[in-house]
Amino acid sequence: MDSFSSDQALRDFVTGLPKAELHLHIEGTLEPEMIFELARRNGVKLAYASEQALRDAYAFTDLQSFLDLYYAGASVLLTERDFHDMALAYLERVHADARHVEIMFDPQTHTDRGVAIETVFAGLASAMRQAREQWGLGGYLILSFLRHLSEADAFAVLEQALPLRDQYADLWVAIGLDSSERGNPPEKFARVYARCRELGFRLVAHAGEEGPPAYVRDALDLLRVERIDHGVRSEEDPRLLRRLIEQRTPLTVCPLSNLKLRVVDELEQHNLARLLRQGLCVTVNSDDPAYFGGYLADNYVEAARSLSLGRRELGALARNSIEASFLPDGKKKPLQEELDRYLAANSPSR
Ligand code: ADE
Ligand code: ZN
Repeated sequence: MDSFSSDQALRDFVTGLPKAELHLHIEGTLEPEMIFELARRNGVKLAYASEQALRDAYAFTDLQSFLDLYYAGASVLLTERDFHDMALAYLERVHADARHVEIMFDPQTHTDRGVAIETVFAGLASAMRQAREQWGLGGYLILSFLRHLSEADAFAVLEQALPLRDQYADLWVAIGLDSSERGNPPEKFARVYARCRELGFRLVAHAGEEGPPAYVRDALDLLRVERIDHGVRSEEDPRLLRRLIEQRTPLTVCPLSNLKLRVVDELEQHNLARLLRQGLCVTVNSDDPAYFGGYLADNYVEAARSLSLGRRELGALARNSIEASFLPDGKKKPLQEELDRYLAANSPSR
């Protein structure tokens, strides 16, 4: 394994790697400063006295303890401008690190508070189109259903969103499933996923973050997803693991999230490197960077440090992220070639 001469050398290498972010909840990019700013702007009362008090509350014991704060944070989002500002702040931060981003958003978190779905789409889309113009950073939107709510609720939000499909056809290409995993198995959403598939959407779902490997299998068989968000518990089932390897089903892994939500006790114990070395199409992503202490490059850097990943393996993770993206082949190819050139120019022998 090659090593980096300094932390800065590692960070520079990671920053320059042509790569994609595929697992990012836009509501999870709300930094405390922005939560307070939007609360002031909108006259929303927060349960915390200061930004620091809010940040201090980010000591999570599991997924649910995080989700409770995440939904409270999202309550400050009311207007199109709010959604635009949130998304643009994320895109501005990530544009030096990513060539392409696939962004999840949870419309039910907003429509349930009386925010029109049109407002959510308009704000996110204007920021993404601005990022495309300003920084050449392209991306897609993944409309995600909240799995703690009912199948009927998922169908209802899909019906609300469908009239907007043509207007946002350049962005909204996929459907996802997130929120509390345990007790909300994939089968609950089999029919709504079948409908989304008929409609031609690309499909992903969170599975095997806290839930058992059976949820990963059911996400593949019952929801027919192309990509699994997290999926780290797949390792507990050797047959499933073989299937993921053979089918090259991508896992969008989020190391700092897994650490902060206690999926692993230490980053050194994370199975990212083991899965990569066994031939899985694993990718590195940030999930909810404002809550978990790091954006895309930070996740690569921390994983590299803790798991002794060198240039070759970091390059493989970046290559997987391009392969696993929903970009058409004609757009993947130039990115893959850019990555090849980058790795050739930055190999340790030079
Ligand atoms: N919503 C936002 N982040 C999530 C995660 N890590 N798991 C499930 N739902 C989420
Ligand atoms: Zn997630």
